[in-house]
Amino acid sequence: MQSSSTQNIPNTSLIPSHVAVIMDGNGRWATSRYLPRVAGHAKGVEAVRGIAKACVSRKISYLTLFAFSSENWRRPAEEVSLLMRLFSTALEREVNRMCATGIRLRVIGDLSRFDKRLQDQIAQAELKTKDNDKLNLTICANYGGRWDMLQAMNKAAAVQPPNTEFTEHDIAPHLAMAYAPEPDLFIRTGGEQRISNFLLWQLAYTELYFTDTYWPDFDAAALDKAIVSYQERERRFGRTSAQLIEVRKAS
Ligand code: IPE
Ligand code: IPE
Ligand code: MG
Repeated sequence: MQSSSTQNIPNTSLIPSHVAVIMDGNGRWATSRYLPRVAGHAKGVEAVRGIAKACVSRKISYLTLFAFSSENWRRPAEEVSLLMRLFSTALEREVNRMCATGIRLRVIGDLSRFDKRLQDQIAQAELKTKDNDKLNLTICANYGGRWDMLQAMNKAAAVQPPNTEFTEHDIAPHLAMAYAPEPDLFIRTGGEQRISNFLLWQLAYTELYFTDTYWPDFDAAALDKAIVSYQERERRFGRTSAQLIEVRKAS
């Protein structure tokens, strides 16, 4: 089981082991160029490819990307269906490249709302990439932090005797991303400073980084800037600075 930042003090290193990103600003990137919003989403797929590669070369082990939220169904039907098509073609095109780069793909979220063909495609891509070990790439699709916590609680309730008082250890293993450590670094592109129902449980002690750069423009240099900001943070996990100095002396 992965360790919990509220139960134990995590070991940290200069390179984040898990980076989680809200890829925002595709629509505005396109609109500012007088292009249809979908052109921004298409360009956003290219940015995903670049950032995944950059994570491999920086030895970041986990990259988690918010691609479609449980609230994004509220968008115009045409945009939603174009996003689904784009997801499907990206899966088709990228799987071989992921195998060549050593990327393992997982898709988390309530996938039951996607059409059967897309669900099969996701399952196949996960299967095809399952032995790759350079980067764990997770795409959050029809994902919501509240959905995740609720489905984990329901699963925990199903395996516990009635009226059990749950601990973190009962819930956490049922979260959709239980295979990954909690994110060290959260990045949101596109200028907004909110969580938008992303990883509500796992972000408890994650360092937050916001940038105005639109997702299609977010490249390896932009990622490095976020990592530098991360390296300047003092991750105290509830302790004081003086305690951290003692810990460093002792190690
Ligand atoms: C993020 O970009 C991608 C998705 C939510 C699918 P947006 O589409 O939200 O772009 P903006 O925020 O409208 O610019
Ligand atoms: C968050 O972006 C979801 C994804 C990037 C998939 P949104 O653009 O949907 O978020 P809000 O609506 O501005 O909060
Ligand atoms: Mg947006």
